[in-house]
Amino acid sequence: MILTVLEFPDERLQQKSVPVTKFDATLGKLLDDMAETMYSKNGIGLAAAQVGKFIRALVIDLGPAENQEAKLWEIINPKFTKTEGKTVFEEGCLSVPGYTEEVSRKAKVTVEYQDRHGKQHTLEADGLLAVALQHETDHLDGVLFIDRLSPLKRRMARKKLIKAVTL
Ligand code: CO
Repeated sequence: MILTVLEFPDERLQQKSVPVTKFDATLGKLLDDMAETMYSKNGIGLAAAQVGKFIRALVIDLGPAENQEAKLWEIINPKFTKTEGKTVFEEGCLSVPGYTEEVSRKAKVTVEYQDRHGKQHTLEADGLLAVALQHETDHLDGVLFIDRLSPLKRRMARKKLIKAVTL
């Protein structure tokens, strides 16, 4: 089922998500629906908070991006245990349609997470996967990529976005 994606300036996007404690069929169905929603909009990542479910769960599939191997990642309760370096990617977001901007992130990350069955995993990532993990985990903390821009760029971005949605 394709879910409705919340869009800026919806204040619910600022809400902090709570850890997942129940690894049941409801969680599985939500993850399936999130993946379907992400694919339907040609996104490469989606956090549960973006569909109004404020639990720490996200999906990523870099397949639609260039030169990337398709794999659906289901990441529950992510925790960054190690980060390294700096990288800049031009980011967009399904919750901030029609706007992209360069964002500075950690270049390499180690993430501990659980799968849909509650099993613990460790993932080392760099490149676009590292960026996507940080972007989606930000959503779980109520942070959008436009919040990570320099104050000047952020003012310009918000002005442009608010204008776009109020026209
Ligand atoms: Co996003």
